[in-house]
Amino acid sequence: MVLKPTRFDINFNYYKMNLFDVYPIINIEPVKGEGCFIFDAEGTKYLDLYGGHAVISIGHSHPYYVKKISDQLKKLGFYSNSVIISLQSELAEKLGKVSGYTDYSLFLSNSGAEANENAIKLASFYNGKSRIVSFNGAFHGRTAGAVAVTDNRSIIAPINSRSHVTFVPLNDIDAVEVELKKKDVSSVIIEGIQGVAGINCPEDSFLKDLAALCTKYDVVLILDEVQSGYGRTGKFFAHQYAGITPDIITTAKGMGNGFPVAGTLIHPKFRPKHGMLGTTFGGNHLACAASIAVLDIIEMDKLVDNAFEVGQYFIERLSAIEEIKSIRGRGLMLGIEFPFAVNELRNMLINDEKVFTGSSTAKEVLRLLPPLNIHNAEVDMFVGKLQTCLKKLK
Ligand SMILES: Cc1ncc(COP(=O)(O)O)c(C=O)c1O
Repeated sequence: MVLKPTRFDINFNYYKMNLFDVYPIINIEPVKGEGCFIFDAEGTKYLDLYGGHAVISIGHSHPYYVKKISDQLKKLGFYSNSVIISLQSELAEKLGKVSGYTDYSLFLSNSGAEANENAIKLASFYNGKSRIVSFNGAFHGRTAGAVAVTDNRSIIAPINSRSHVTFVPLNDIDAVEVELKKKDVSSVIIEGIQGVAGINCPEDSFLKDLAALCTKYDVVLILDEVQSGYGRTGKFFAHQYAGITPDIITTAKGMGNGFPVAGTLIHPKFRPKHGMLGTTFGGNHLACAASIAVLDIIEMDKLVDNAFEVGQYFIERLSAIEEIKSIRGRGLMLGIEFPFAVNELRNMLINDEKVFTGSSTAKEVLRLLPPLNIHNAEVDMFVGKLQTCLKKLK
């Protein structure tokens, strides 16, 4: 039996389901990707310096990645976490080795927000406390717990209580200590580098002091590496520049190169209990196959080193442009600050020069998060295009 649509308005127009309109859209539809380029249906080629919000780590449509996921799909696409999924152990072992956190455990989920949600929950299970310290400008996701530690009033609904969260300025260690001294803080959550706020780096010395304070007051330190992790900054995790070892590390975005997957890396002092955390889709066969392929390619193609080297070259080239006020970030997580709002410049880059870049809540900052396999030649290409736009804007 074929069901006929039955909903009509008063003029007998058939209603069709629309998308819930929450995203400001760029009027381009990419249909194909290759390395650090994407193409629309007419074959117009765009240089992708944004990687769909830092998600594309190993480049678009890497053949090894495509094959790994396709092969797995042909065998088994999904079964729940109630059976043995040895791909999960393979992924955990590889992630431990590549990141240097071999003695940590891995809990797999589906998005950055979930990874953070699980991290703050785990901290609270661990010490029985509920207050959280977060930082001005922070972005940790949109689920209830994660959005409560996010510093953006416009995405906080009345049900997202923040009475248990205290925001302090980034790099202000005294402000942190004032809070930790009160002895009711469960965890401190901080991004490896603040992304959404416009690429703000915590100072290495601040992270060192923060880790020491968390140890002193027995507070769980959570490093949100959802955007800054997976080699993006020229180290596997951004906090590794400071030489600290957080209690919990969260990761997503680059982990699956577009396949939804996230991880919470957990210090051995946390003891698991059956039922403590859980998810239906987290750690499914396809997500694991995608994530294993990403780590294999990161290693085979030496993408962490590439992010460091090309990042240095990028900063060098940008430093010679006099219109730029400051360059922030590390490796291939860069914020270019101009003395003006970048809306028009960004539109020009997309529409006239065919380059995707990102914005941030800091209106003067252009956010660059290219695939980690970008070369100096693409940097040169971008610098030329940027200069053309800046000339037009004069
Ligand atoms: C640092 C950071 N944490 C968490 C998130 C949330 O990730 P997701 O959108 O996958 O839930 C983001 C997303 O931009 C992020 O940048």
